[in-house]
Amino acid sequence: MKKQLLLGTAVILVLLLALFGRDLLGLYRLLDYIDTTTQAYEAEGPWPHTADACYGCHGKQGTSLHQRYPSLAGQPAEYLKAQLHSFASGQRLNPNMQPLAMSLTEQEILKLADYYARQPTLGNPAFQPDPVLREQGARLATAGACMACHGQRLMGQGPFPRLAGQGADYLLAQLDAFAQGRRVDPTGSMKAITATLSAQDRKALSHYLASLAPAQK
Ligand code: HEC
Ligand code: HEC
Repeated sequence: MKKQLLLGTAVILVLLLALFGRDLLGLYRLLDYIDTTTQAYEAEGPWPHTADACYGCHGKQGTSLHQRYPSLAGQPAEYLKAQLHSFASGQRLNPNMQPLAMSLTEQEILKLADYYARQPTLGNPAFQPDPVLREQGARLATAGACMACHGQRLMGQGPFPRLAGQGADYLLAQLDAFAQGRRVDPTGSMKAITATLSAQDRKALSHYLASLAPAQK
């Protein structure tokens, strides 16, 4: 009797696993994911964080999943701070960023710049570069000495942003904006550089830069 009962229970368990195994595994993975994400979140201090307001557009820990929204992860703090100031003062124009930057206190700006500068750079694996454009972009980057300012591996330094693994549409939009005088950098370097580039060159450069795997800091 006891043996039959045990056997019966085992059969039911096997049946249940067969029926709901995948769901159970899914649920387990979800709980595990929530747990690790919560731990990572809490490691940065109590809820809410200033960076919560940025998550929707700039992605988890500043790695954007959209080619049009820039990744902030691993950007030099000095560069991030300068951009937030520049949006707030209206020197750099963007309908999303201007009102937001204006609402931040100086302390919040410093904290956000420091937070994103410390986040790991995960690259841009979703982007599929055109191989011909990528090749052309690589040649243009060498010829244009982008590394002289943007760093040996184009990972950014001080006032110069990281370009490696940045969103392709974002990069192109910025190169176009510099070329057409809609974005002005304080040193005037990017204006001079983009003046020598055709629309096709700018597209090639953005394919090349977006497809570069960022170096780990
Ligand atoms: C509604 C969407 C949205 C939200 C929310 C948002 N951003 Fe942005 N952000 C953008 C877009 C779009 C750009 C690119 C602007 C451009 O094309 O010049 C940008 C650009 C930036 C840049 C310049 C990046 C670079 O490489 O030059 C910084 C820095 C930045 N955002 C910081 C933040 C921070 C910090 C927050 C949260 C407090 C935030 N953003 C929230 C949409 C958003
Ligand atoms: C003499 C220094 C210098 C050189 C060389 C240079 N840049 Fe820049 N670049 C800058 C500076 C400074 C900025 C930031 C401007 C600002 O603060 O608004 C910048 C910004 C950019 C941005 C905007 C990135 C972002 O996150 O918004 C892109 C794209 C860019 N450069 C591409 C290039 C490419 C491609 C080359 C080579 C063909 C190049 N740069 C060479 C100084 C340089």
